[in-house]
Amino acid sequence: MSPPAIILLPSILLSVVVYAIARHHAPKKNKRAFPPGPKPLPFLGNVLDIDSERPWLTYSAWRKQYGPIVYCQLLGQDVIIINSAKVARQLLDRRSSIYSSRPASCIGKLFGIEFNTAFLPYGPEWRIHRRMFHQALRVEAAESYQALYLSKAVLLLKNFLDTPDDFEKHLQLYIASITMAVTYGYELTSLGAPLVKPVSELVRLLNDGLPPERNAMLTVFPFLAYFPAWVPGAAFARDAARCRELSLKSLNDPFEYVRKNMAAGSATRSMVSDLLSQLSDEQNYAQEEKAIKECAASAYVGEPQSAATLSTFLMAMTLYPDAQQRAQAEIDSLLAENILPDCSHRASLPYMEAVLRETLRWNSVAPLALPHTTSSDDIFEGYFIPKGAMVMPNIWYIHNDDSEYNRPDVFNPERHFNADGALTDDPLSSRVAFGFGRRHCPGKWVADASLWVAMVSILALFRVEKRRDGNGRAIEVEPRFTAGVVRRPLPFSCSIVCRSASRAHAVRLVDD
Ligand code: HEM
Repeated sequence: MSPPAIILLPSILLSVVVYAIARHHAPKKNKRAFPPGPKPLPFLGNVLDIDSERPWLTYSAWRKQYGPIVYCQLLGQDVIIINSAKVARQLLDRRSSIYSSRPASCIGKLFGIEFNTAFLPYGPEWRIHRRMFHQALRVEAAESYQALYLSKAVLLLKNFLDTPDDFEKHLQLYIASITMAVTYGYELTSLGAPLVKPVSELVRLLNDGLPPERNAMLTVFPFLAYFPAWVPGAAFARDAARCRELSLKSLNDPFEYVRKNMAAGSATRSMVSDLLSQLSDEQNYAQEEKAIKECAASAYVGEPQSAATLSTFLMAMTLYPDAQQRAQAEIDSLLAENILPDCSHRASLPYMEAVLRETLRWNSVAPLALPHTTSSDDIFEGYFIPKGAMVMPNIWYIHNDDSEYNRPDVFNPERHFNADGALTDDPLSSRVAFGFGRRHCPGKWVADASLWVAMVSILALFRVEKRRDGNGRAIEVEPRFTAGVVRRPLPFSCSIVCRSASRAHAVRLVDD
């Protein structure tokens, strides 16, 4: 054993023992009943009960045993799992003054992302961020970017025509270029561009390395983050240092790009330029300017969800050709052979709408949303929910609840229609995939519009089908997904075949 390990490993053990003794002798929190849940072990709580890769599966299994609201413990942290849309609405929406904070954690500081809206505790700073997001990305603002989504979709279609096998890369570029244009007015043409490279790497490191369960562990044992990477399980020390570096670059570089362009009078319209030009309060100028910079850098948290949703859509189209053909028949019955769809056609394409909804439901890309935290004690249906509890809405279960959805594992857009043939009443404002209460996703209007444009454009021009091997046999696709805060399909193959020469011609005619 190398000398640092000889020093470090006993100190881990000692810390664990001291912590366990301290908790054992700590005054008992409360005699009131927590919601039902699995029996915790001393010190570890229920850590060993949980599928660490896919915790939402464990939480869903607990639904059957313990009901819609479950209490468990992770290393002394109280955790409430909500396995029901109704209970999530009752607590996270209706009691949002209690359920809108985020877990206190050393992670933000360690990884240099403490400024990010998604990690801020409920309070004045977070409120300023949300006001800015509302100003810049609310429904009307999201609609004002329609021409932008369409122009990026044309580039996506050209890329699919040229190199269809690189579809993952093209989808990522589509989402990243919309995010960078809406946020900074930056024209992104390659994922390797210097302004976007640091932020994409940062998002990947955070997504793959920091599910809430690991977050809980680091909160209890922050020193783990300082261990060298060779100590088992402590690779995040290296990741944390890299994230701090990337985070600083992502915060400053694109913001300075906008400031410079504004000074030169050449800035294009964007969230940052809109917000900066509306700044009037001399007194709070510095504070407001800092908030604009932080909000803008936070907007990129939506990139992995949006890209994963489009990849899930292509997987669903590969696996469910009937749904695909129905959507294409609807598009073809509305539009002439050489016309590409745009946002004005949306209301006339209900089946396409159902395809988008079903994509968000079928394989939740954010299965546990982001954890909320209570800011004071609460009582719900006689159960005690303590201040500081981590509250996780299990979106995966809600989307796969078989009392709500017949055969939930099947991709079936028809389920979003009533018996009279009209779409069910499921407004975007209350769509579960985008979270709950005051912490609901502020980018959902942009996400919804950009996803719809990409999906309808792809189906208007292409047929997505199983790839064939050398013997002409279809290569099967398994719907398998990554672990992590955001789930995305594991690499899969499909053929993306042009199905309309005249629409392809129309695409080629549009200038880059
Ligand atoms: C398919 C696309 C997307 C999905 C499924 C999604 C989903 C979510 C979810 C589930 C949350 C947590 C809500 C909660 O805590 O209850 C969230 C938060 C957030 N999202 Fe999105 N999102 C998407 C796209 C976007 C986009 C495009 C942006 C920005 C332009 C964005 C920005 C944010 C931010 C800043 C937060 C943190 C809000 C806060 O803590 O107050 N998201 N999103």
